[in-house]
Amino acid sequence: MDYVLEASDVEGGYDKVKILNGIDLYVERGEFVTIIGPNGCGKSTFLKMLFGLATHYNGSIKYEGSEIAGWRTDRLVNLGISYVPQVDNVFPSLSVSENLQMGAINLSPSEMRNGISKSIEMFPELKFRMNDVAASLSGGERQMLAISRALMPEPSFLMLDEPTAALSPRYQQQILENIDELRSQGISILLVEQNARLSLERSDRGYVFSGGRVVYTGEASSILDNPDLGNYFLGVQE
Ligand SMILES: Nc1ncnc2c1ncn2[C@@H]1O[C@H](COP(=O)(O)OP(=O)(O)O)[C@@H](O)[C@H]1O
Ligand SMILES: [Mg+2]
Repeated sequence: MDYVLEASDVEGGYDKVKILNGIDLYVERGEFVTIIGPNGCGKSTFLKMLFGLATHYNGSIKYEGSEIAGWRTDRLVNLGISYVPQVDNVFPSLSVSENLQMGAINLSPSEMRNGISKSIEMFPELKFRMNDVAASLSGGERQMLAISRALMPEPSFLMLDEPTAALSPRYQQQILENIDELRSQGISILLVEQNARLSLERSDRGYVFSGGRVVYTGEASSILDNPDLGNYFLGVQE
């Protein structure tokens, strides 16, 4: 198998507060994988740990075959990993263009211009907002900016934490279509999503987390079709 990411029996948390109790998860090259699960079960913590922002205690984390557990975020970015956080994912007092530049700190001016034109291609809404402060953007436009910023270093593996939370159905649909398009451009995707049905419909595989563990994994369709998982996690009883 051609794994981009392979986490084996990973334990982690925040300093001494253990949250992740042995996670096994992999993403193959070109895959779109979604993690779902109830609030507080460690989904965000897992992504943060993969990106060097939460504490790793034990277990192996391999990126394209090399061990990266405990690596610092800047080294992970240089490897081709990028991440869109769940909250506070833009700098509200900076303009759209300044936000994009913040995502391009290691890029040359021409790479930066190239990145900005790619963002505008994917999100034409941003074109006329370049000089507006991010605080003036709608929720959907902010997510577009946050995703664009994460794409500036041209990652090969992108993690996104609930990018459609609190968006209108139209924007939810659009953002997931954009993520799917990124996958078709060859970027491997690991998504945490509350709108489970919407994202699983586009995913190859899914993981269900509970209490800092994986309680189910399989083809995305097997989660969508499983009545127990469906009732609990897909919002039928929520
Ligand atoms: N910075 C932090 N320090 C300590 N505990 C945290 C921190 N962030 C989150 N937690 C705790 O970690 C647990 C898992 O949170 P989180 O990973 O955000 O869950 P999810 O994303 O699945 O809703 C929760 O109990 C939460 O209170
Ligand atoms: Mg979360």
